[in-house]
Amino acid sequence: MEAPFVIERISKLHNFKDFSCGEPSLDNYLRNWGVRNTQNDFSTTYVLCPRGTKEVIGYYSLCASSIRSCRLPEVKSAPRNIPTVLLGRIALRHDFRGQGLGEILLIHVFRETLLVSTKISVWGLELDAINESVKQWYQNFGFMEIIDEPLHLYIEIETLRQLEADIWGESIPDLRLT
Ligand SMILES: CC(C)(COP(=O)(O)OP(=O)(O)OC[C@H]1O[C@@H](n2cnc3c(N)ncnc32)[C@H](O)[C@@H]1OP(=O)(O)O)[C@@H](O)C(=O)NCCC(=O)NCCS
Repeated sequence: MEAPFVIERISKLHNFKDFSCGEPSLDNYLRNWGVRNTQNDFSTTYVLCPRGTKEVIGYYSLCASSIRSCRLPEVKSAPRNIPTVLLGRIALRHDFRGQGLGEILLIHVFRETLLVSTKISVWGLELDAINESVKQWYQNFGFMEIIDEPLHLYIEIETLRQLEADIWGESIPDLRLT
């Protein structure tokens, strides 16, 4: 059976003008910068839509980044800057929250990160949690704190490989269209 949702790269054809997740900064980003930053190669936004529609009910934005290795407790014998993917933003429309769709979006962030890592070295995925409560949500997936930056979190690519192979690969269908 086909999954009821798809994830695709944002375009002007998508309807996001009424998107509201409860965090105005994340709504404004999608409305004003999602398409533009994707076109300009600053940060790529992917949107979650009910299959067969262009109605955006969730999104995430990714770009290349790096972390100072001295900020990572487990890293030894490494260059000064370690390559990462940055999850700049992730949000779900408020009326779709609490149904597990946030988890599905995040697993697709992991999958995009794993895909990039097959072509160029990516040590991990990083993000800035918007608040303490959301930080707990990320930590449930295995994210850890960067030294001296309690809301700045990371997860190693090796952990993502294991989770995809052992848990998600079988149970979570791939919703990505492009
Ligand atoms: C964060 C977000 C994407 C999670 O999506 P979601 O679909 O609501 O979450 P899921 O259904 O996958 O997971 C639900 C679980 O996570 C917990 N959870 C979800 N959002 C949470 C939050 N902001 N704080 C604490 N716990 C949260 C729920 O309590 C629930 O726990 P339970 O399964 O034990 O009941 C969504 O809540 C959202 O868009 N929030 C507003 C934007 C935002 O804060 N984005 C993060 C920016 S760093």
